[in-house]
Parts: sequence; structure tokens; C-alpha cells
Amino acid sequence: MARAESRYVCQSCGAVHPKWAGKCDDCGAWNTLVEEASRASAPKGLGGGKGGRPLQFVGLHGDAQATARRASAIAEFDRVCGGGLVPGSALLIGGDPGIGKSTLILQAMAALAAGKSGQKLDCAYVSGEESLDQVRLRARRLGVADAPVRLAAATSIRDIAASLDRADVPQVVAIDSIQTMYLDNLDSAPGTVSQVRASAQELIRLAKARGFTLLLVGHVTKEGMIAGPRVLEHMVDTVLYFEGERGHQFRILRAVKNRYGPTDEIGVFEMTDAGLAEVPNPSALFLGDRQREVAGSAVFAGIEGTRPMLVEIQALVAPSAPGTPRRAVVGWDGNRLAMVLAVLEARCGVAIGANDIYLNVAGGLRVAEPAADLAVAAALVSALAHEPVPADMVVFGEIGLSGEIRPVSQADARLKEAEKLGFATALMPTRRGRSKDRAAPVGTFKTREIAHLKHLLGLFENAPHNLRRAGGGGRS
Ligand code: TYD
Ligand code: MG
Repeated sequence: MARAESRYVCQSCGAVHPKWAGKCDDCGAWNTLVEEASRASAPKGLGGGKGGRPLQFVGLHGDAQATARRASAIAEFDRVCGGGLVPGSALLIGGDPGIGKSTLILQAMAALAAGKSGQKLDCAYVSGEESLDQVRLRARRLGVADAPVRLAAATSIRDIAASLDRADVPQVVAIDSIQTMYLDNLDSAPGTVSQVRASAQELIRLAKARGFTLLLVGHVTKEGMIAGPRVLEHMVDTVLYFEGERGHQFRILRAVKNRYGPTDEIGVFEMTDAGLAEVPNPSALFLGDRQREVAGSAVFAGIEGTRPMLVEIQALVAPSAPGTPRRAVVGWDGNRLAMVLAVLEARCGVAIGANDIYLNVAGGLRVAEPAADLAVAAALVSALAHEPVPADMVVFGEIGLSGEIRPVSQADARLKEAEKLGFATALMPTRRGRSKDRAAPVGTFKTREIAHLKHLLGLFENAPHNLRRAGGGGRS
């Protein structure tokens, strides 16, 4: 029997619980269950399967055209979207409050409306968080106040839908943010999972029906008190996350899901007093503050999406107080660090495990590639040996459990980027079966190819005795 009673919905994952609990059993988050009035329960099953309309099945071939994309001419934004916005698609931009989502959206809308890439688009920006004056002030500060963007402050989905469900609908609609929107026929408060989900559903349905591009802004909070955009991820076509460290001016836009493009692309921005500035050459930026000839630092030649990117990896190795040594990792995977340490210890005889170890990827970038293993190892051994990695060297390569250095993808692109930025050598995996002329870097660039991690030790002249005791770090 359906009774009107309350239920408890996890604001992080959307799971429904009949009773309140401190922890959500589904996703493990704490203090995320919020009471919401349940609607009359939906009928279960079809009850006999009558009344439906049979589907018309068709073949796979057809005259479907690849839809034209709407580029904003903000290259860092377009690349992450897969070349531009797709008509009729829904895109979610998630991120911590204050990271710059509204700024990014407003700049992108202004660029689209002004037709920076050639085609002027009819854009509408619906602000649910800021008043019209606040948005206008921001627009002025960003220098885009003249762009023909239609602006409205609203939070009622009913009103928004009424203005969008018509023939002269804008081509791009931004909703900032989805957490402030509400449907008046739901009892729960704005920002709860039911409201966020129902509001998004309504807007996405409209976007598909009317063919406009929908940009949704969503806040993520670690506390989970506001419904995270997690529940929206499967509803939209594209999910972008805007991330960065508060103290840093760099912001990274990352695609985590994209039905219309690649998901490993990133866009790099810098937050300035005139808004977000594109960073077309992130390597130069990430290496900008690097101190040369410092022990415990190695430059990793990485690939983010289709772009090579050089980042500095910093390690600090300090004697540990008795007890469990500390491990602190920023920007890299802690488990991967444990593996690199174990391989250094077991396969190369480097006694490092008993120390406190701090590892940091400079500039606030998060590196996920296994190719960073060797650069991490180089930074660690350099810190332990109190001896710098040569300042003109980049490092990349994956480390296997037996200490072997495995080849990684796109070695040529990594080398080219390193050469472009003035580096002269690369410590890297041995290349197999490569024709010399294809792989050999031009000019004076030298590669130092190693097959085993113990050859890394040969890089350090004055390595302490204990560094080589068991492993016998032979020079390559
Ligand atoms: P905002 O876009 O409001 O963040 P979100 O929408 O993700 O909550 O960005 C707010 C921050 O950006 C705020 O700390 C101030 C900073 N900012 C600048 O540094 N320069 C600028 O030109 C603008 C508009 C904002
Ligand atoms: Mg905002």
C-alpha cells in the first residue's frame, strides 16, 4: 500500500533509504542523508504488458549527418568539448564553489554571442545565484559587457521552460547553477537530489526537443550537503570538471565524460583580474617557477589528452621519527608511490622506505599517467642522494614490478615538447623496433634509454653508499 511518508535520500549518490542513518550504505558518504517527502509510489511493472506502441526497428545505415559544432574561439574550452558545442546536447560543468565556473561560462557565452569564431549565436544566460547587477558587473570586469547575451535571473523551472519551449529559442542556454533551480510540484527544497534531478531532466528534455545546447553549472562539495552533480552525470552528454588549487591561479578544465569527443583532454586557464586567460603553452607555465639544480626535482614529460605537457615532480625525503613513516602525496596516486618505493627498495637496493616521503606535482596539476613512474623515482633518488637531476633533462617511463622500464605511448611527442622548451636530454625507456630516422630527435637532443630502474642510479655521481649497496646501479 502506498502511504505518504518520508524517505531519506543520499545527497551524494541519490540512493534512497527508508530510515535515517549516519552513513550511506551505497556510496559510503557520511552525513549525506536528507529527509524528502516521497511521492506516491510508482506502479510496479507493466501488469500484463498491454497498451504499448510497438517499436519500428531500422537499420544502422541512414543519412544522419555529423552535426556542426559551435566553437567559441576559446581554444582551451573548445578542445575539451571535443571541438565545440553540439546542438541539442547537454553539458555539465562541475567544480568547487568559487573555482570560476560562472566566469568561464560567461566568457564562453560572450565569445559565442559575439561570433568570435565566425558564427554569431543567440545565447541566453540564466543566473539563479547572482542578481542581474552582479552578473553585469562581472561582465564589465571581464570586458564582455557589449556581447549580445540574453540575461535573466530566475530559479523556477516552470518559468524557464515557458521561455524556452518556443520556436525562437536561443541556440545556447546556460543555467547557473542547477542547484538553485526548483520545480514547484516537488516538495523537497532546491538543491536536494530530487529537485536537481527533476530540474535537469526537464531542461535536458527541452534541449533535445528544441535543439539548443544546454550548459549546466553544478557545485561539488566534499561535505555532500548540496546534491553533487554526481547524480547528473549519467543524464547529460558531456561532463567537464573545473578544478584547481585555491592558492594557485591555474585552473584546469577536464572532460570526464563526452559522448561527442575525447575524455582525456584538458584545458588550462589562468585566473587573472580580468577573468580567465587561456594558457596555450602550459609546459612553460608549469615549469615557470622551477628552480634549477635542486635535489629532489625531476621534470616529467607527460601527455594530457592529445597534448604533451611538461611538469615538475618534487620529492622530499626526510629521516623519520620512530614509528610509521609519513607519506604525503599531492597530484599523484599514493598507491603508485608505494609501488615505486617498493621497487626501488627490492630491485635496486635503495634503502628509502624508512624515511618520511613527500611528493608534489608542482603547479596544482594532477598526473594520472603511469609514465610518470620513472620521473617520480628520479625525484626520490635525487632527494635521497642530495644531488640534482641534470637541469636540462626530462624523464618518463613506466616502472614494472621487477624493476623493468616499460615503453610508454607517444614518446616522440614528449621528446618534441621537451626540445621545444629547451631541454637537451631525456631519460626514457629503451625503444624497440623503431626505425632510427623516425624516432631520432633532431639537433643536439640526446636520449638516454634505460631498460631497468637500477640504471637510474647511474645518474647520480655521489650517490650515498647505501644507495647502491645491494642493487649495484650499473651505468647504462
Ligand atoms: P566564480 O566564477 O564566481 O566561481 P564559481 O561560479 O565557480 O563559484 O569565480 C569566483 C572567483 O574568481 C572569485 O574568487 C574571484 C575570482 N575572479 C577573479 O580572480 N577575476 C575575475 O575577473 C573574476 C570575474 C573572478
Ligand atoms: Mg558561480
